[in-house]
Amino acid sequence: MRYALLVALIAAMATSFASAQPPGAAEEHEDNAEIAVDAEVIASRAAAHKFGKTLKEALQQAIKAGGPANGITVCHDQADQIAARLSEELEMLVGRTSLKVRNPNHTPDAWETAVLKQFEARKVQGESVDRLEFFAVIDDDQGQQTFRYMKAIPTAGLCLNCHGEKIAPEVDAELKKLYPYDQARGFSEGDLRGAFTIAKPLPQKETP
Ligand code: HEC
Repeated sequence: MRYALLVALIAAMATSFASAQPPGAAEEHEDNAEIAVDAEVIASRAAAHKFGKTLKEALQQAIKAGGPANGITVCHDQADQIAARLSEELEMLVGRTSLKVRNPNHTPDAWETAVLKQFEARKVQGESVDRLEFFAVIDDDQGQQTFRYMKAIPTAGLCLNCHGEKIAPEVDAELKKLYPYDQARGFSEGDLRGAFTIAKPLPQKETP
């Protein structure tokens, strides 16, 4: 996909995000739309998996080479770049979000907030965090149908270096410098850290 197309995609997303409905409000979509949605779900699962794997590998490598303070560089400089590259490659908008964000650019919109809360509720009911996912087709104000997908991100031991209760002084100092509004601390292993979030505008409905 060309860059201009990605920009157009992001612009379309911005309008659809603004009018996003909470989960459950999305109407059942009729006819063969279901088949298209199945394909988007499969593509989204693959995209979330690829994004997570790429990030984790880069992070593990950086920490191994220079400790957690060095890992911050990967998260700070590379995470959003990896997301942008994958969005272009996979022709869907790929990102991460959370109810407690470190980078304010990752603040969830209304639809994402509702899904994250739904994930927390499902976790309380005993569902395993690494299996939580949700998707819906949402109409924006212009009637543009957008497929949206989220997949929960569990907190692993490695994550506690930078998202846990006790953070090493040099890591803490660097995080405070880069993220004065950091909320992404105090997590424990197994907590819902956040979610991968994916969006893709669907082809326009034919008007009879
Ligand atoms: C070396 C420190 C470090 C480690 C280890 C780390 N993170 Fe992060 N994490 C960060 C930083 C820094 C950001 C902000 C990235 C940015 O500015 O785009 C971040 C952002 C995130 C975000 C995006 C939402 C937000 O808060 O901005 C998620 C989700 C996330 N981390 C999950 C994890 C998970 C899951 C792990 C363990 C597998 C992990 N992190 C390990 C430093 C770390």
